[in-house]
Amino acid sequence: MQKDEIKQVILDCEVEAGDFSVGGEASSKLKSLLHKLGIPAQTIRKIAIATYELEINIIIHTYGGSLKAEVTPSEIRVIASDKGPGIADLEKAFQPGYSTASQKAREMGFGAGMGLCNIKRYSDELNVETEVGKGTEIEARISLRESGDSNE
Ligand SMILES: Nc1ncnc2c1ncn2[C@@H]1O[C@H](COP(=O)(O)OP(=O)(O)OP(=O)(O)O)[C@@H](O)[C@H]1O
Ligand SMILES: [Mg+2]
Repeated sequence: MQKDEIKQVILDCEVEAGDFSVGGEASSKLKSLLHKLGIPAQTIRKIAIATYELEINIIIHTYGGSLKAEVTPSEIRVIASDKGPGIADLEKAFQPGYSTASQKAREMGFGAGMGLCNIKRYSDELNVETEVGKGTEIEARISLRESGDSNE
């Protein structure tokens, strides 16, 4: 029966705003967990890139939030949610090169404006809900089924 209904939460981490020193902590934790679960390296790579970009975006663009990951036999879902400020123009935000990163973030090497387009590229499905003044929730879904359609 519905074996895809079996869902396991494997990561539930708070991500603090502006804390560059721990940037990437939640995504590295997820990466090692996925290795332990025996997920193929190529799939882990896609998930790791998407999760890292989501995590850094919470750190540099928001007032803080969380990163969660759930696995089912067929896919992994990574959910990044934050407490604002929300994204006023989503279309612009997904354009390669568009960035509102602060000077401080740029000095740390962020702000190329490539994060969201990379998340899209490496996810099989991406859902974004955002409200200015409230916050943003981004769900990236990556298939765990062997399909042979990898674009790597
Ligand atoms: N969670 C978020 N909340 C508010 N704004 C966001 C969020 N994520 C992205 N943005 C906005 O979308 C823009 C584009 O994001 P994207 O991740 O593509 O680039 P970047 O973070 O600016 O640079 P890079 O990811 O290349 O270091 C950001 O500059 C910011 O204005
Ligand atoms: Mg980014």
